[in-house]
Amino acid sequence: MADNVRHPRHVAIIMDGNGRWAKERGLPRTMGHRRGVEAVRQAVRTARELNIEYLTLFAFSSENWRRPADEVGELLRLLKFFIRRDLADLHREGVRVRVIGEREGLPADVRNLLEEAEQLTIANDRNTLLIAFNYGARDEIARAMRRIAEKLVSGETSVESVTPELLDAHLDTAGIPDPDLIIRTSGELRLSNFLLWQAAYSEFSFIPCYWPDFDGKVFAEAVREYSMRDRRFGGLSREIAS
Ligand code: FPP
Repeated sequence: MADNVRHPRHVAIIMDGNGRWAKERGLPRTMGHRRGVEAVRQAVRTARELNIEYLTLFAFSSENWRRPADEVGELLRLLKFFIRRDLADLHREGVRVRVIGEREGLPADVRNLLEEAEQLTIANDRNTLLIAFNYGARDEIARAMRRIAEKLVSGETSVESVTPELLDAHLDTAGIPDPDLIIRTSGELRLSNFLLWQAAYSEFSFIPCYWPDFDGKVFAEAVREYSMRDRRFGGLSREIAS
Protein backbone atom coordinates (compact mmCIF):
# COMPACT_ATOMS: atom_id res chain seq x y z
CA MET A 1 0.00 0.00 0.00
CA ALA A 2 2.73 2.44 0.98
CA ASP A 3 4.41 1.85 -2.38
CA ASN A 4 1.16 2.62 -4.21
CA VAL A 5 0.78 5.87 -2.33
CA ARG A 6 4.30 6.92 -3.26
CA HIS A 7 4.20 5.91 -6.90
CA PRO A 8 2.63 8.67 -9.02
CA ARG A 9 -0.44 7.55 -10.97
CA HIS A 10 -0.64 10.87 -12.76
CA VAL A 11 2.24 13.15 -13.76
CA ALA A 12 1.54 16.47 -15.48
CA ILE A 13 4.27 18.45 -17.19
CA ILE A 14 4.64 22.11 -18.13
CA MET A 15 7.06 21.81 -21.02
CA ASP A 16 8.99 25.05 -20.84
CA GLY A 17 12.24 26.38 -22.27
CA ASN A 18 12.10 25.48 -25.97
CA GLY A 19 12.77 29.09 -26.96
CA ARG A 20 15.73 29.50 -24.61
CA TRP A 21 17.15 26.14 -25.69
CA ALA A 22 17.14 27.40 -29.29
CA LYS A 23 18.45 30.86 -28.42
CA GLU A 24 21.46 29.42 -26.59
CA ARG A 25 22.35 27.63 -29.82
CA GLY A 26 21.75 30.63 -32.09
CA LEU A 27 18.74 28.86 -33.65
CA PRO A 28 15.21 30.15 -34.35
CA ARG A 29 12.66 29.43 -31.59
CA THR A 30 10.80 27.07 -33.88
CA MET A 31 13.83 24.73 -33.82
CA GLY A 32 13.42 24.53 -30.05
CA HIS A 33 9.79 23.45 -30.50
CA ARG A 34 10.83 20.84 -33.06
CA ARG A 35 13.31 19.34 -30.63
CA GLY A 36 10.55 19.62 -28.03
CA VAL A 37 8.45 17.14 -30.00
CA GLU A 38 11.22 14.53 -29.70
CA ALA A 39 11.26 15.14 -25.93
CA VAL A 40 7.47 14.59 -25.96
CA ARG A 41 7.94 11.17 -27.61
CA GLN A 42 10.56 10.23 -25.07
CA ALA A 43 8.42 11.40 -22.13
CA VAL A 44 5.50 9.26 -23.34
CA ARG A 45 7.82 6.25 -23.61
CA THR A 46 9.34 6.86 -20.18
CA ALA A 47 5.92 7.28 -18.56
CA ARG A 48 4.99 3.85 -19.89
CA GLU A 49 8.24 2.31 -18.65
CA LEU A 50 7.73 3.86 -15.22
CA ASN A 51 4.12 2.60 -15.04
CA ILE A 52 2.66 6.07 -14.86
CA GLU A 53 -0.99 5.61 -15.79
CA TYR A 54 -1.73 9.21 -16.76
CA LEU A 55 0.64 11.69 -18.37
CA THR A 56 -0.59 15.21 -19.08
CA LEU A 57 1.45 17.51 -21.32
CA PHE A 58 0.80 21.25 -21.54
CA ALA A 59 1.34 21.73 -25.26
CA PHE A 60 -0.45 25.03 -26.00
CA SER A 61 -2.04 27.43 -23.56
CA SER A 62 -5.03 29.64 -24.24
CA GLU A 63 -2.58 32.54 -23.84
CA ASN A 64 -0.12 31.21 -26.46
CA TRP A 65 -2.21 32.84 -29.25
CA ARG A 66 -0.42 36.07 -28.24
CA ARG A 67 2.81 34.76 -29.77
CA PRO A 68 3.87 35.78 -33.30
CA ALA A 69 1.71 34.16 -35.98
CA ASP A 70 4.56 32.10 -37.44
CA GLU A 71 5.34 30.56 -34.04
CA VAL A 72 1.65 29.78 -33.41
CA GLY A 73 1.49 28.23 -36.88
CA GLU A 74 4.54 26.09 -36.14
CA LEU A 75 3.06 24.84 -32.84
CA LEU A 76 -0.16 23.84 -34.60
CA ARG A 77 1.85 22.18 -37.35
CA LEU A 78 3.95 20.24 -34.83
CA LEU A 79 0.87 18.95 -33.02
CA LYS A 80 -0.49 17.65 -36.33
CA PHE A 81 2.92 16.20 -37.22
CA PHE A 82 3.14 14.40 -33.86
CA ILE A 83 -0.34 12.90 -34.12
CA ARG A 84 0.04 11.85 -37.75
CA ARG A 85 3.42 10.27 -37.10
CA ASP A 86 2.84 8.68 -33.68
CA LEU A 87 -0.87 7.91 -33.39
CA ALA A 88 -0.66 4.38 -34.82
CA ASP A 89 2.23 3.51 -32.48
CA LEU A 90 0.44 4.97 -29.46
CA HIS A 91 -2.65 2.94 -30.34
CA ARG A 92 -0.65 -0.26 -30.78
CA GLU A 93 0.95 0.27 -27.38
CA GLY A 94 -2.43 0.63 -25.70
CA VAL A 95 -2.22 4.36 -25.02
CA ARG A 96 -5.48 6.26 -24.82
CA VAL A 97 -5.23 9.85 -26.07
CA ARG A 98 -7.43 12.50 -24.49
CA VAL A 99 -7.37 16.19 -25.21
CA ILE A 100 -8.20 18.88 -22.66
CA GLY A 101 -8.78 22.53 -23.50
CA GLU A 102 -11.17 24.57 -25.61
CA ARG A 103 -11.85 23.05 -29.06
CA GLU A 104 -13.83 26.04 -30.29
CA GLY A 105 -11.54 28.38 -32.18
CA LEU A 106 -9.07 25.69 -33.26
CA PRO A 107 -8.62 25.21 -37.01
CA ALA A 108 -10.93 22.48 -38.34
CA ASP A 109 -8.06 20.19 -39.41
CA VAL A 110 -6.54 20.32 -35.91
CA ARG A 111 -9.91 19.61 -34.29
CA ASN A 112 -10.57 16.72 -36.61
CA LEU A 113 -7.18 15.20 -35.93
CA LEU A 114 -7.60 15.52 -32.16
CA GLU A 115 -11.02 13.90 -32.40
CA GLU A 116 -9.62 11.12 -34.59
CA ALA A 117 -6.88 10.43 -31.99
CA GLU A 118 -9.44 10.28 -29.19
CA GLN A 119 -11.85 8.06 -31.10
CA LEU A 120 -9.21 5.62 -32.32
CA THR A 121 -7.78 5.08 -28.83
CA ILE A 122 -10.98 5.36 -26.77
CA ALA A 123 -10.96 1.71 -25.66
CA ASN A 124 -7.26 1.61 -24.70
CA ASP A 125 -6.64 1.27 -21.00
CA ARG A 126 -2.94 0.76 -20.48
CA ASN A 127 -1.87 4.41 -20.20
CA THR A 128 -3.55 7.70 -20.91
CA LEU A 129 -1.85 10.62 -22.61
CA LEU A 130 -3.67 13.87 -21.96
CA ILE A 131 -2.72 16.63 -24.35
CA ALA A 132 -3.57 20.07 -22.99
CA PHE A 133 -4.10 22.14 -26.12
CA ASN A 134 -5.65 25.61 -26.17
CA TYR A 135 -5.92 24.95 -22.45
CA GLY A 136 -6.24 27.44 -19.61
CA ALA A 137 -7.42 26.40 -16.16
CA ARG A 138 -9.57 29.47 -15.53
CA ASP A 139 -11.24 28.97 -18.88
CA GLU A 140 -11.80 25.26 -18.06
CA ILE A 141 -13.39 26.14 -14.68
CA ALA A 142 -15.55 28.87 -16.27
CA ARG A 143 -16.76 26.42 -18.96
CA ALA A 144 -17.59 23.86 -16.26
CA MET A 145 -19.45 26.50 -14.24
CA ARG A 146 -21.41 27.52 -17.32
CA ARG A 147 -22.55 23.93 -17.89
CA ILE A 148 -23.56 23.61 -14.23
CA ALA A 149 -25.39 26.96 -14.40
CA GLU A 150 -27.36 25.70 -17.42
CA LYS A 151 -28.42 22.63 -15.41
CA LEU A 152 -29.41 24.84 -12.48
CA VAL A 153 -31.53 27.04 -14.71
CA SER A 154 -33.21 24.05 -16.37
CA GLY A 155 -33.85 22.40 -12.98
CA GLU A 156 -31.71 19.35 -13.83
CA THR A 157 -29.43 20.18 -10.88
CA SER A 158 -30.27 21.68 -7.49
CA VAL A 159 -28.22 24.36 -5.71
CA GLU A 160 -27.47 21.87 -2.88
CA SER A 161 -25.87 19.44 -5.29
CA VAL A 162 -23.17 21.93 -6.32
CA THR A 163 -20.18 20.29 -4.63
CA PRO A 164 -16.47 19.93 -5.44
CA GLU A 165 -17.31 16.50 -6.90
CA LEU A 166 -19.91 18.04 -9.23
CA LEU A 167 -17.41 20.62 -10.45
CA ASP A 168 -14.83 17.86 -10.92
CA ALA A 169 -17.29 15.95 -13.09
CA HIS A 170 -17.76 18.96 -15.39
CA LEU A 171 -14.08 19.72 -15.93
CA ASP A 172 -12.21 18.59 -19.06
CA THR A 173 -10.38 16.12 -16.79
CA ALA A 174 -13.60 14.40 -15.60
CA GLY A 175 -12.81 10.85 -14.52
CA ILE A 176 -9.05 11.42 -14.41
CA PRO A 177 -7.34 11.32 -10.99
CA ASP A 178 -5.73 14.59 -9.89
CA PRO A 179 -2.03 14.89 -10.78
CA ASP A 180 0.23 13.53 -8.04
CA LEU A 181 3.24 15.32 -9.46
CA ILE A 182 3.46 18.44 -11.60
CA ILE A 183 6.82 19.00 -13.27
CA ARG A 184 7.89 22.28 -14.85
CA THR A 185 11.09 22.45 -16.83
CA SER A 186 13.35 25.47 -17.49
CA GLY A 187 13.61 26.63 -13.87
CA GLU A 188 10.54 28.90 -13.88
CA LEU A 189 8.56 28.71 -10.63
CA ARG A 190 4.99 29.23 -11.84
CA LEU A 191 1.84 27.23 -12.55
CA SER A 192 0.82 29.50 -15.46
CA ASN A 193 -2.90 28.73 -15.39
CA PHE A 194 -2.34 24.95 -15.60
CA LEU A 195 -4.69 22.53 -13.77
CA LEU A 196 -5.42 25.07 -11.00
CA TRP A 197 -8.32 23.07 -9.53
CA GLN A 198 -6.73 19.65 -9.92
CA ALA A 199 -3.40 20.76 -8.37
CA ALA A 200 -4.88 21.28 -4.88
CA TYR A 201 -2.68 18.54 -3.35
CA SER A 202 -0.15 17.97 -6.11
CA GLU A 203 3.55 17.85 -5.42
CA PHE A 204 5.74 20.10 -7.56
CA SER A 205 9.07 19.59 -9.19
CA PHE A 206 10.78 22.54 -10.84
CA ILE A 207 13.61 21.25 -12.96
CA PRO A 208 16.35 23.57 -14.25
CA CYS A 209 16.74 21.91 -17.67
CA TYR A 210 15.06 23.16 -20.84
CA TRP A 211 12.30 20.96 -22.27
CA PRO A 212 14.30 19.64 -25.29
CA ASP A 213 16.86 18.28 -22.78
CA PHE A 214 14.23 16.51 -20.65
CA ASP A 215 15.10 12.86 -21.23
CA GLY A 216 14.19 9.56 -19.61
CA LYS A 217 16.90 9.94 -16.99
CA VAL A 218 15.71 13.36 -15.83
CA PHE A 219 12.09 12.12 -15.78
CA ALA A 220 12.97 9.01 -13.77
CA GLU A 221 14.96 11.09 -11.28
CA ALA A 222 12.00 13.47 -10.75
CA VAL A 223 9.74 10.47 -10.07
CA ARG A 224 12.31 8.93 -7.71
CA GLU A 225 12.60 12.19 -5.78
CA TYR A 226 8.78 12.44 -5.61
CA SER A 227 8.59 8.93 -4.17
CA MET A 228 10.63 10.07 -1.14
CA ARG A 229 8.13 12.79 -0.23
CA ASP A 230 5.60 12.55 2.55
CA ARG A 231 2.16 13.56 1.26
CA ARG A 232 -0.30 14.46 3.98
CA PHE A 233 -3.42 15.78 2.16
CA GLY A 234 -4.11 18.01 5.18
CA GLY A 235 -3.66 15.10 7.63
CA LEU A 236 -0.62 13.98 9.57
CA SER A 237 2.68 12.61 8.41
CA ARG A 238 2.55 8.81 8.18
CA GLU A 239 5.36 8.60 10.73
CA ILE A 240 3.55 10.81 13.26
CA ALA A 241 0.21 9.05 12.67
CA SER A 242 1.58 5.52 13.19
C1 FPP B 1 7.40 26.36 -23.93
O1 FPP B 1 8.62 26.83 -24.42
C2 FPP B 1 6.79 25.41 -24.80
C3 FPP B 1 5.65 25.61 -25.52
C4 FPP B 1 4.90 26.87 -25.50
C5 FPP B 1 5.07 24.60 -26.38
C6 FPP B 1 5.40 23.16 -26.10
C7 FPP B 1 5.26 22.44 -27.39
C8 FPP B 1 5.98 21.38 -27.79
C9 FPP B 1 6.98 20.71 -26.94
C10 FPP B 1 5.82 20.83 -29.16
C11 FPP B 1 4.44 20.43 -29.60
C12 FPP B 1 3.69 19.57 -28.65
C13 FPP B 1 3.22 18.31 -28.89
C14 FPP B 1 2.33 17.63 -27.91
C15 FPP B 1 3.58 17.58 -30.08
P1 FPP B 1 8.78 28.39 -24.67
O2 FPP B 1 8.61 28.66 -26.10
O3 FPP B 1 7.84 29.16 -23.77
O4 FPP B 1 10.27 28.57 -24.22
P2 FPP B 1 10.92 29.89 -23.59
O5 FPP B 1 10.21 30.15 -22.29
O6 FPP B 1 12.34 29.49 -23.40
O7 FPP B 1 10.74 30.98 -24.59
